Formats: sequence, structure tokens, C-alpha cells
Amino acid sequence: MPVLLGPAIAGLNLKADGWYVDGTFGRGGHSGAILEKLGGEGRLLAIDRDPSAIENASPALKSDPRFELINGKFSEVKRYAIERNVLGKVDGLLLDLGVSSPQLDEAGRGFSFRSDGPLDMRMDPTNGQSAADWLSRVEERTLRNVLQQLGEERNASRIARAIVAARAKAPIRRTAQLAEIIRSAVPSRGQKKHPATKSFQAIRIFINDELAELEKALEASIDLLKPGGRLCVISFHSLEDRRVKRFMRNASLEPVKYRGLPDIPLEHRPPFKLIGKAIKPTDEEIAGNVRARSSRLRIAERL
Ligand SMILES: C[S@@+](CC[C@H](N)C(=O)[O-])C[C@H]1O[C@@H](n2cnc3c(N)ncnc32)[C@H](O)[C@@H]1O
Repeated sequence: MPVLLGPAIAGLNLKADGWYVDGTFGRGGHSGAILEKLGGEGRLLAIDRDPSAIENASPALKSDPRFELINGKFSEVKRYAIERNVLGKVDGLLLDLGVSSPQLDEAGRGFSFRSDGPLDMRMDPTNGQSAADWLSRVEERTLRNVLQQLGEERNASRIARAIVAARAKAPIRRTAQLAEIIRSAVPSRGQKKHPATKSFQAIRIFINDELAELEKALEASIDLLKPGGRLCVISFHSLEDRRVKRFMRNASLEPVKYRGLPDIPLEHRPPFKLIGKAIKPTDEEIAGNVRARSSRLRIAERL
């Protein structure tokens, strides 16, 4: 079940003949729900950087003439819109950030410390370096900074030191191997979470350049959306949510010198207005899907 499905669909304020972009197709849950609400003239472009998301899309969706699915990054959404002649004409952009359940559940993708697999962690395994390759070369100081900044890991120094010491003995190529190195590097104080949770998150965010991807897509949404168009972003941790919140807040503020004045020149008007506050999952949703626990949906409307 897609996370925050009802609120995200309501947030998009779907029009039957609107033009929509789902930047994170995944298993197509949100895309399917959007298509259900569109009429014959509506259009949905869905994007996913993971080639296996494209391969596994349901034939029913793929054959829907209102629907187009492409393998690419949502940071390039502006180019995709230009190629389709819809820049500034899009009615809604949805981003449901992070990794999908199939990516996490399939040990072969290397995202999970719970099941052993090759230490890859790329959402698009045909591009960039794997986590194993990066960990074999990265300087200890850089590794510590990544664990601190992208994982908010308090034990970053110890973990970075342990990884560098371990790789001098044998290459780190498996998720279970990395999880064990981290587990034995940190003091165990009966934490509820696995001690490798934050480090795996940090390495994954780094390998996939997730925060830069997000910043670029948020910025692009200004040119992408038409007046009244909606930007809906579901994030899963505070690093993402903070960026979404800051972007939406700044983009909805009137410039100081015009604040409170009745007529702000068009070029100085804020591009967005906020629609409500962050929406959290209900207890019921969390009970049915533990991955929804930390999700937040934020919505803004293009002015
Ligand atoms: C949480 S899942 C989306 C689930 C989807 N909403 C559904 O209903 O099934 C996130 C998906 O976004 C993709 N993704 C993450 N970052 C991306 C990016 N920068 N560009 C394109 N796709 C991205 C991932 O590969 C993953 O399939």
C-alpha cells in the first residue's frame, strides 16, 4: 500500500483533464490512483531512476494511452517537460522520496542490513559507483562526515575508524559484513533500532546523491507547474523534510520590502502558497505499514 495515498491524492487536487508528473513511480501505487481519477484527456508522466521499477510496471498501466513511464531522474523533470512541451503547464508534481519496498526487500540490491547481499545500494545499478566500491576508497574523514551529516550518527567517528580498519584486512563487499563491522564498533545500549540503521541510510543517501536530487526537483517545480498546480512531497526522514519545509516556506514568503503592501509587482510575488501543515500518517496506517511511521507530506500550490 503506497504511503499517505489518500492525503497525497487529495493534495494534488486532481482535475480530470490535468497534466501530472509522478517523479517516483516505484511500484506504481500513487500513479495508479492518479490515473483512476483522470479522464480521457488527462495525462500522467511517471519517472523512476531504477530500471527494475520500469520493467516491473503492470501491463495495464503501461498500455494506458494517458500514461507514459520513463527511466530517469526527477532532478531532470524540467527537461522532460520541455521535451513534451508542457513546461509551465503541469497541474501537479508528486515526489514520494527514498527507496521502495521492493528495493529494500530484495537482498541483491544491497540496501538492507537485515538480509545479506552484495553491498550495492544504487537505485540505478547501471550508473555511478556501488557502496562497496566507494567504501573501498573513501578517506576516513570523508566517511565520518557522511555518517554524521547524512545519518546523524552519533558514533560516526568510531564507525568510520572500524570500517577503515576492517577493509585493510579484507574488502567489504556484503551488507551483512558491513552491518557486523558497525555493530561491533558501537556500544550496545539496548537500542530499539539496529546499530547500522543510520549508517546504511547515510551511505545510501550519499551513493544516490538524494539530497541534491531533491533540491533540484524542488527548484524545477517553480518553472514546471502552472498557476494552481500542486507540489506534493512525501519525505521519510528529517534531512529531507527539513529541505522540503524550508523550500516551501521560502517560496511562499513575500519579499521583505513588499511585505504587507497591497500590490506586489508580478515578478516579486512568491511562487507558492502553503497548503496546510505537514500531514502525518494515522496510527492505523502505521499499524498496517511500519515504513509509513516517519513519513510526512507537505503540499504547496503554485501562484
Ligand atoms: C518510496 S518509492 C515510491 C513508491 C511509489 N510512490 C508507489 O506508490 O509505489 C521511491 C521510488 O523513487 C525512486 N527514486 C528515488 N529517487 C529518485 C530520483 N532522484 N529520480 C527518480 N526516481 C527516484 C526509487 O527508485 C523508488 O522506486
